Amino acid sequence: MDKLIITGGIPLQGEIRISGAKNAALPILAATLLADGPVKVGNIPHLQDITTTMELLGRMGVELVIDECMDIEVDCSTIRELFAPYELVKSMRASILVLGPMLARFGQAVVSLPGGCAIGSRPVNLHIEGLVKMGAEIDVESGYIHAKARKLKAARLVMDLVTVTGTENLMMAATLAEGTTLIENAAREPEVVDLANCLNAMGAKISGAGSDTIAVEGVDRLNGTHYDVLPDRIESGTYLVAAAITGGHIRIKDTRPRMLETVIDKLREAGAEVVVGDEWIDLDMRGRRPCATNIRTSPYPAFPTDMQAQFTTLNVVAEGAATISETVFENRFMHVHELQRLGADIQLEGNTAFVRGVERLTAAPVMATDLRASASLVLAGLVAEGDTVVDRIYHIDRGYESIEEKLAKLGARIRRVPV
Ligand code: UD1
Repeated sequence: MDKLIITGGIPLQGEIRISGAKNAALPILAATLLADGPVKVGNIPHLQDITTTMELLGRMGVELVIDECMDIEVDCSTIRELFAPYELVKSMRASILVLGPMLARFGQAVVSLPGGCAIGSRPVNLHIEGLVKMGAEIDVESGYIHAKARKLKAARLVMDLVTVTGTENLMMAATLAEGTTLIENAAREPEVVDLANCLNAMGAKISGAGSDTIAVEGVDRLNGTHYDVLPDRIESGTYLVAAAITGGHIRIKDTRPRMLETVIDKLREAGAEVVVGDEWIDLDMRGRRPCATNIRTSPYPAFPTDMQAQFTTLNVVAEGAATISETVFENRFMHVHELQRLGADIQLEGNTAFVRGVERLTAAPVMATDLRASASLVLAGLVAEGDTVVDRIYHIDRGYESIEEKLAKLGARIRRVPV
């Protein structure tokens, strides 16, 4: 298991490219199961979660070819097994995204239940309830979802909670259903819109993605296409916070500033000078310490839960005190105890963290517990005095492409050591 060693104290400077969005690439790869012809997906980030998805599709018998541009061509005509095993689903919950497409296209699917995870119980009841409303017969037995449907039928699906992968699973299933499905209280995340755009390029008839009501008019078949995944807004936000907490000045390119409005507003509130272009963001902190800024997470377009841990670190080193409320997941403060080991002053009460900024953090060994928590520890390492050793970084490799290379390009002293 690799570790990262970070020597803090360097203001980040320079320019880096943002990779394709993990949370768009995963549903788009699952959507290839719906197509009659090969689908080529470009701007795919090199991440462990992508490897896991490719392994999952490969085990089903799907043919995957990576070309010289690192685009992935997926051909599902060779599929032989409509099965997602526990060993893969437990390592990546987004594997549940194959359920809707398999059921809609092939009339059956057996997918492991994901179980709990480090940030909460994360059930998939809304995925299942939606598919049942569309006429699927679903039994949950021995930890597996067994789903069957001769032909899915359109339904009006009013979601009890805003769920990103739930919206995506049902939207994919509805593309081949009979009639027009309405998904109300749908997730509005840019990744949902990207998936809808890809499905439309495959011949689907989806409108309203990006609003809270999505209409999907079912079609008989979907075709192959070539689609490039949108940039990763969470990776973008993470590097901007890295610059802000180190008093640095960086530019990130190949990103989409419009997807990051709430994050940019918070960075400005913290004292950063932020200038945006069409596809780049420039953040200059002019050597200053950030000011504390209150955070409350909520579904898009509000402040993303996937940026909460990084802004916790920002507040840990900021001037003043701030309150951080997590409303999306029940247990997403695992990073707090690790940050305390570096000298952070944080009190936890239920789903709220009260943070008082400190002038200095001191290095210590810390342990990553989930993807975004590990990012917050790497950020803390960039400002802590001494060598911070971050263990269990397989979590970070699930969602950040070459993090040590990108940070090193910005001047950080960071290295990966195999253990
Ligand atoms: C997705 C993102 C994840 C992000 C999260 C919230 C992907 C691959 N992952 O996860 O990075 O943190 O959105 O923005 O896109 N819920 C239920 N029942 C369900 C489904 C969800 O109760 O059937 C609850 C969850 O426990 C959670 C809330 O709804 O409290 C939102 O979760 P959801 O949007 O579904 O998260 P994911 O799609 O798993």
